[in-house]
Amino acid sequence: MWPQEYHIRALERADLDAVLTIEQASYSQPWTREQFEQELNNPAAFLDACAAANRLAGYICYWLIADEMQILNIATARQFRRQGIAQQLLDHAFNRCAEQGLSSAWLEVRAGNTAALTLYQSSGFKTDGRRRAYYRDGEDALLMVREFKDQKFQE
Ligand SMILES: CC(C)(COP(=O)(O)OP(=O)(O)OC[C@H]1O[C@@H](n2cnc3c(N)ncnc32)[C@H](O)[C@@H]1OP(=O)(O)O)[C@@H](O)C(=O)NCCC(=O)NCCS
Repeated sequence: MWPQEYHIRALERADLDAVLTIEQASYSQPWTREQFEQELNNPAAFLDACAAANRLAGYICYWLIADEMQILNIATARQFRRQGIAQQLLDHAFNRCAEQGLSSAWLEVRAGNTAALTLYQSSGFKTDGRRRAYYRDGEDALLMVREFKDQKFQE
């Protein structure tokens, strides 16, 4: 269930301290402040935040290039997980894709990241390839794709 006091808005530079706290708790190879700043300055990049009361609960970063969306990063603070926040961030991004008439979305995910794989599968992504030993620690990446053609978006 999606609590009413949660809302999605554009991520701002002032959020970066909170973003980095979530990022470092979420990934073995977290993005740096410079990487987030680079994306905030990238005209092809979109960064959205989910705010819960006055706290940052999660965020997403993706690129819209030509007619494709590429998801680069999505994370939810541990204490806010399993409340539908990542799903809402994805749906918000998909609605933007629909407005712009994009054809597909794709992403790479660690083959052992069950939480993310389940999230993406429930959002309509299908596995489309495997990149062996893609990550620095040797884990494989799965390439996942969602086609938008003929799919219904949320109102
Ligand atoms: C993956 C992640 C973003 C999910 O965030 P979240 O806000 O907890 O996800 P949601 O509550 O929107 O979950 C939506 C659905 O995804 C699936 N899901 C989410 N977390 C799951 C888990 N730990 N195990 C199994 N399924 C899970 C479920 O189908 C869930 O629906 P349900 O709760 O009704 O069963 C979060 O676990 C996270 O930040 N992980 C660390 C960062 C990361 O791995 N990001 C992805 C990089 S590719």
